[in-house]
Amino acid sequence: MSQSYQYDVLIIGSGAAGLTTALTLPQHLRIAVLSKGDLASGSTYWAQGGVAGVLDDTDTVESHVQDTLIAGAGLCNEAAVRFTVEQSRNAIDWLIEQGVPFTRNESSETEKTHFDYHLTREGGHSHRRIIHAADATGAAIFTTLLARARKHSNIHLIEHQAAIDLITTNKLGREGNTCLGAYVLNRETNEVDTYAARFTVLATGGAAKVYLYTSNPDSACGDGIAMAWRAGCSVGNLEFNQFHPTCLYHPQAKNFLITEALRGEGAHLKLPNGERFMARFDSREELAPRDIVARAIDHEMKRLGIECVYLDISHKPAEFVKEHFPTVYERCLTFGIDITTQPIPVVPAAHYTCGGVVVDQDGHTDISNLYAIGETSFTGLHGANRMASNSLLECFVYARSAANDIAQQAAQVSAPESLPQWDASLVTDSDEDVIIAHNWDELRRFMWDYVGIVRTDKRLLRAQHRVRLLLDEIDEFYSNYRVSRDLIELRNLALVADLIIRSAMQRKESRGLHYTLSYPELSAQAQDTILKPANADD
Ligand code: FUM
Repeated sequence: MSQSYQYDVLIIGSGAAGLTTALTLPQHLRIAVLSKGDLASGSTYWAQGGVAGVLDDTDTVESHVQDTLIAGAGLCNEAAVRFTVEQSRNAIDWLIEQGVPFTRNESSETEKTHFDYHLTREGGHSHRRIIHAADATGAAIFTTLLARARKHSNIHLIEHQAAIDLITTNKLGREGNTCLGAYVLNRETNEVDTYAARFTVLATGGAAKVYLYTSNPDSACGDGIAMAWRAGCSVGNLEFNQFHPTCLYHPQAKNFLITEALRGEGAHLKLPNGERFMARFDSREELAPRDIVARAIDHEMKRLGIECVYLDISHKPAEFVKEHFPTVYERCLTFGIDITTQPIPVVPAAHYTCGGVVVDQDGHTDISNLYAIGETSFTGLHGANRMASNSLLECFVYARSAANDIAQQAAQVSAPESLPQWDASLVTDSDEDVIIAHNWDELRRFMWDYVGIVRTDKRLLRAQHRVRLLLDEIDEFYSNYRVSRDLIELRNLALVADLIIRSAMQRKESRGLHYTLSYPELSAQAQDTILKPANADD
């Protein structure tokens, strides 16, 4: 039997953004944190690099701001960048207070920081400013925040709950557009439950699963972006999909990232013959922003007809490598690659969705009482290319301001109401799930081929034609058959793919991560691509 629940705050997503929101909210509020799979199934757990912030006496807010603006290729919202960077120290202090075990300095004078935490470097950053927990920062943060959340009796952590759609006044045929909660597939009972909430927070991560090759876990299906769009929210800059230059290339290694911090600590990119090549593309060589490094690798792979390039840190002392990169070292060793003596085969893969649901500094979307934070959102911080480790920072800064905003609004927002239950009376069980698997595969393949690192008008048109066919087929399936997690995710991914293609078609220039042979030049004017749904159920 389906159930109805009532909460003050419904948080969809249990990663860095969702847990930070829950932990910052006042403890008198009843909070549900929903996770589509296990609590650790989101992207946070897999983040290797760290959190960027102004932490060293020799670094400045201005320098971090300028680096972010440069990486963003003229498209960042400077106010959002300043706000985020100015809050970086507070956000990181808060993480330290929560008990996150960031790596400390040893004794090297040159690396000594105000905090005595070790700061590493990544592409685009002109200073060492990435605080990290060896090469498993996401796991350290997630584990710490989860342990904290478990201690709060007002926070209910609920696993295996796949949100289907938001419930809004507009959808119920009432005046205005206010979010009232969400319909959620309980994957344990297979029933659709109703969550009524005074405030709803989308913290579902990005949409990198729209591409065939990705560094992201299976959960990164753009669920929050798709739900927000269907409910009537605008989305911004979805054409900017970041491809991480270095994912492990091995037939059995699914989605394994080789952190950029390796390049920060001196690793070299090489061709199969051992030749370094980045100097031919950018004077910053291996530490150029990701778009440049990923395109350089893509170019060399296509030029030489090779399946991968190599990342080599074997010139560094073995002890240094093992101490700084234990996760990468161990993981590569399981595939027979000893990174202290051998180069690592790597390829670019989809990594981060720079655009998302349009929000302001407090995470407000276009819909009342609905917030979006983290990779789901578009704050303007990343512009046309996200700088490494600015994304975890964005999660903490915006989660904390959204939580503070909710705390302030809470007295004025009435109790959650009783909502209509999900109507499953007209659907039956599907007998052809193969269609879902086939469509998943087709979608991700043509997105990789036609809407990837290098685009053209013709490729985008091809992709648009295909995605529209899939959307029709998925709609029909969705209307006639009982929902499943695979169907919910496919429906969301196909919608987000369509939005990515539409956004890419609107951008008649090459800027940052959006590179098209049809318009290789940069326009004089930098403009965001904002799409607005024609109506709430578009
Ligand atoms: O390379 C990395 O460790 C990734 C960092 C990031 O995406 O911010």
